[in-house]
Amino acid sequence: MSSSEKYTVPMRLMHWVASLMILTLIGVGWYMTGLDRSVSYKFDLYHWHKSFGVLVLFLFVARLVMRHLSKVPELPATMPSHEKKLGSLIHVLLYLLMLAVPLSGYLMSSAGGRDVPLFNLVMPSLMDKNEELAGVFHEIHVLIPYIMLGIIALHILGALKHRFFDKPEHDVLKRMM
Ligand code: HEM
Ligand code: HEM
Repeated sequence: MSSSEKYTVPMRLMHWVASLMILTLIGVGWYMTGLDRSVSYKFDLYHWHKSFGVLVLFLFVARLVMRHLSKVPELPATMPSHEKKLGSLIHVLLYLLMLAVPLSGYLMSSAGGRDVPLFNLVMPSLMDKNEELAGVFHEIHVLIPYIMLGIIALHILGALKHRFFDKPEHDVLKRMM
């Protein structure tokens, strides 16, 4: 397949919808945890954060299936191999985090004996109540979204570098627009 081809429309839509949701969830997660308990809408935000977080988990599965079924355009042949490897490594890390971040939130809530909502539905609990494990998943969930944010920043810098400081045929952003 030629490198001038784009990602398929469903892959592009998935990329931008999921990106928007993940970045918003990081912002809302940071904001809601900083609110005082007396703020009336604090726990409404928790409800929306959890619901959209579970949705991201479902989108992750759909995305993997979609990626498996669709043709992914090859990277430009003239792109140096270390850049190709770095880009692919970042994509793999993003995929791992797109699973680990929402799953750690889900497991934290389940182990803490709290409901996991999906809008007006209630998701099944993944385990019996276990305060110790809830603490471990909490530690993980309050850390890895920010590691993800750092990797997203590298991912964006990479896309901008190829667009503005590279040969026009290395502009991979076009393939995702
Ligand atoms: C891609 C999905 C998700 C992202 C990016 C995300 C991100 C975050 C972030 C950045 C925080 C704030 C951490 C802090 O600064 O203390 C947070 C907190 C939280 N998240 Fe998520 N989250 C996601 C999914 C979920 C899911 C699926 C659940 C549960 C079903 C969940 C439950 C929570 C809870 C309960 C807190 C508050 C923890 C506390 O009060 O200390 N999150 N999340
Ligand atoms: C939460 C935020 C983001 C995540 C998790 C993410 C994740 C990914 C992943 C996993 C891929 C590989 C293709 C796939 O399997 O879908 C990809 C491709 C791409 N992303 Fe993102 N992305 C995010 C945000 C952005 C943003 C804001 C930009 C804009 C600069 C961007 C630009 C690109 C480009 C240009 C590609 C295509 C790279 C290529 O052709 O190989 N991404 N992204």
